[in-house]
Amino acid sequence: MIDLEDLTKAFPGAETPAVDRLNLHIDAGEIVVFVGPSGCGKTTTLKMINRLIEPTSGTISIEGRNVESVPVHELRRRIGYVIQQIGLFPHRTIRQNIATVPGLLDWDKARINERVDELTDLVALDPEMLDRYPAELSGGQRQRVGVARALAADPPVMLMDEPFGAVDPIVRAHLQDELLSLQQRLHKTIALVTHDIDEAIKLGDRVAILSEGGHLEQYGSPAEILREPANPFVADFLGTDRGIKRLSLIPISDLDLEAGPVVDRSASHAEAVATALEYGTDWVAVGDDSLVEGWTRVAEIPAGGVATTDVQPFLTRLTRNASLKEALDAIVSSHTSVAAVFDEERLVGMVTAAAVSREIVQ
Ligand SMILES: Nc1ncnc2c1ncn2[C@@H]1O[C@H](COP(=O)(O)OP(=O)(O)O)[C@@H](O)[C@H]1O
Ligand SMILES: [Mg+2]
Repeated sequence: MIDLEDLTKAFPGAETPAVDRLNLHIDAGEIVVFVGPSGCGKTTTLKMINRLIEPTSGTISIEGRNVESVPVHELRRRIGYVIQQIGLFPHRTIRQNIATVPGLLDWDKARINERVDELTDLVALDPEMLDRYPAELSGGQRQRVGVARALAADPPVMLMDEPFGAVDPIVRAHLQDELLSLQQRLHKTIALVTHDIDEAIKLGDRVAILSEGGHLEQYGSPAEILREPANPFVADFLGTDRGIKRLSLIPISDLDLEAGPVVDRSASHAEAVATALEYGTDWVAVGDDSLVEGWTRVAEIPAGGVATTDVQPFLTRLTRNASLKEALDAIVSSHTSVAAVFDEERLVGMVTAAAVSREIVQ
């Protein structure tokens, strides 16, 4: 969908190029994340794709056509652009901001309004915001408007420059999740820029790691890069918690779950002790195949058996879709030292720290 060939940009007077012989191919429908330290040429690369900056040398093709042969207005209609710092027009309402491109394309008023309402719904923006001005919105709301504006003419390609840069971590995680669910429906070809490696790993089908001077250090799926960093720069950029980051990409369903020590409400004290021994735990879960009520320490079970025992709820109820990183977090935060995995109310098994670490070293 997008091909960069020997793409180079040397700004006049600069000692080193901002982007240096970049070669990269982006498939239709994938999210490619450009990540790297500040000043490594990420924004310059995006701006060359929609010709806000002309390359010094090299070529860019979109859908097989050299972008230099496409009239700029036609090119930009095919490319939605979320610029760094969002850049909403401060003296135009949110509705007018979102309608920017349809307005330029001379759509009639009814069609524009219909499209704005559709986009407002799509990016989960409160319709009450439409008549306000950008300064009256929160950071997260402005980000949504920026995305809606870029999507307005339904372009097949989206360029997003640090789209979630200006919001706090909780809103950021939420917007990232929304982008992923939006992408499942819209199948855009997205080139997204960030300096945050965790965001890159979470959002990217593939990740391009750049270093100062616009050098491409590695290009691959998050799993590939985390498994095998191409060089010390990449390893350093990924950070010392590379193993933990890898765990965020592996779902619990990839593991063979270990059975858990479950006893029935009617179990005797001796039966509970035997079950805990069998599983090497000092606790048992209480319930049956369809409903687990909670867990209790064996030492706290009265002589009369499990029937009269107070059980505690499992604090974290993971499902098989959760990641091993979430499982590890549950393990280290739980009294039981295991993560309990549920399917509805049914305890389907346990993940232990040993099982997680076996996945890391594989
Ligand atoms: N218009 C410009 N004129 C001169 N130098 C520029 C211009 N835009 C960017 N640069 C330089 O090019 C390099 C890459 O910048 P940029 O692409 O904005 O990096 P990033 O987005 O990765 O932080 C930096 O050294 C920056 O100072
Ligand atoms: Mg930038």
